[in-house]
Amino acid sequence: MTYSDKTDKKLPQFPEPYWRESLELPVFPRIEEDINVDVVIVGGGITGLTTAYLLVNEGVKVAVLEAGKLLNGTTGHTTAKITAQHSLIYDEFIQNIGRSKARLYYEANVEALSFIKETVDQHQIDCDFSKQDAYIYATTEKYAHKLENEAQAYEKIGIDGGLVETIPFDIKIQNGLVMKDQAQFHPLKYLAHLVQIITEKGGLIFENTTAVNVKTGKQATVLTREGARVTGNNVLACSHFPFYEGTGLYSTRMHADRSYIIAAKTSATYPGGMYISADEPTRSLRSATINGEKMVLIAGESHKTGQGKDTMEHYKALETFGQKVFGIDNVVYRWSAQDLITLDKIPYIGAITSSQQNIMIATGYRKWGMSNGTAAALLFRDMILHKKNPYKDLYTPSRFYVHPSLKNFLVENADVAGHLIKGKLETPSKSTKDLSNDEGAVITVKGQRKGAYKDKEGKLHIVDTTCTHVGCEVEWNDGDRTWDCPCHGSRFSYTGEVVEGPAEKPLQRHDHSMMENLTSEDSGY
Ligand code: FES
Repeated sequence: MTYSDKTDKKLPQFPEPYWRESLELPVFPRIEEDINVDVVIVGGGITGLTTAYLLVNEGVKVAVLEAGKLLNGTTGHTTAKITAQHSLIYDEFIQNIGRSKARLYYEANVEALSFIKETVDQHQIDCDFSKQDAYIYATTEKYAHKLENEAQAYEKIGIDGGLVETIPFDIKIQNGLVMKDQAQFHPLKYLAHLVQIITEKGGLIFENTTAVNVKTGKQATVLTREGARVTGNNVLACSHFPFYEGTGLYSTRMHADRSYIIAAKTSATYPGGMYISADEPTRSLRSATINGEKMVLIAGESHKTGQGKDTMEHYKALETFGQKVFGIDNVVYRWSAQDLITLDKIPYIGAITSSQQNIMIATGYRKWGMSNGTAAALLFRDMILHKKNPYKDLYTPSRFYVHPSLKNFLVENADVAGHLIKGKLETPSKSTKDLSNDEGAVITVKGQRKGAYKDKEGKLHIVDTTCTHVGCEVEWNDGDRTWDCPCHGSRFSYTGEVVEGPAEKPLQRHDHSMMENLTSEDSGY
């Protein structure tokens, strides 16, 4: 039985990550009144909550503001590998930013891993933490050669690892590269424990509280959609895409990638370790114990958000791969993840601009948020307590490495400009009458481009497809039933609500009265 069998009762109608379904998290109130704290943290994922945990331990008064539910964003959708092996990166870093900075990046991520392990040990957190070796493998000659270069980079930096000839799967590889003693865990079990400590130590947490802007000054005030104002000496934007950009132009300096994950019960026993292919399409593997049974998480198929093929095909491709390598008995979960990628592939962590030192951001972790998010929290703590931190300059968002950032800057923005114009020029041939139940598409209504989803009961949900961020045209994501923006990765539910920023406002909805004013041919009724 597979996910494509819609009679499989174990699969939710809409994709939900295993991490969230397996845990009951505490519920926090919406903010009701203006408050003053030392530090305002926007975003309830691994970065925001780890920072809050570190700061309450130092006696700092914090408030965490989360637009939706805690741990429901990127952290809730990860594969939860905790590793400094971020696919092929160290050879590239040595070429672009030099050996000592490449080494610093490695150390920041290893320190983050050690911090998580120490925290798990200190509080005896039951979060399925286990040490695992991490492997990259290549199935083609081109990537086998790249792995050799990466292995040399490991040697130059002093990384514990090296080339291997085989991996314990039915995958014919040309080359493999191991990094020893990395780890995996259940991220929400770990962070739920930190949440408990944050609240015990007086930290404030608010859910369903959306930060929309900042009033800058010696103290900074976060303005919320709910009307309450939260003032602090520092504001930390830990909200995946920063909710406030200042003059930092972050929209032009990052792009969003979407990737897919299935959790499957397999016929073959998983041999341990964490794996990622160097070749495209990416395949990433780890094990997880789900309902007492050993399962395999298979991830990959990444593409720029809003620019992929039919999203269900990505899940099918992962299943086909899993079937070939392990034999799949059952796919129990599927979900997708969104990651932000900076121009030079190093996250932006630090002051939002050099002139606004009390507002800080952490974003652009590529696909490695468990270690980079924890490194960000450790850096934030040190910056707020005015302590030295060796990684401050490496991660500073005001850096500018001319090569290759400039080229990437031009490519990113040509891509956005292209999508801004392309969507406006297209006149989709479909109308609502072409839609079956549980189908969505961009359609034409009275000559206008609209987005329509016909739900399982046959009810139509129609939205304006112009993204409320900068105005690109959103595309239908069939796998998740969302509208995804190809420019900076905003995502909206089929009813138009924001699922993921940078957009803050929902897509404009068109209700039935609009549809009733149309001719039956236009509306498809
Ligand atoms: Fe920027 Fe849509 S996310 S235009």
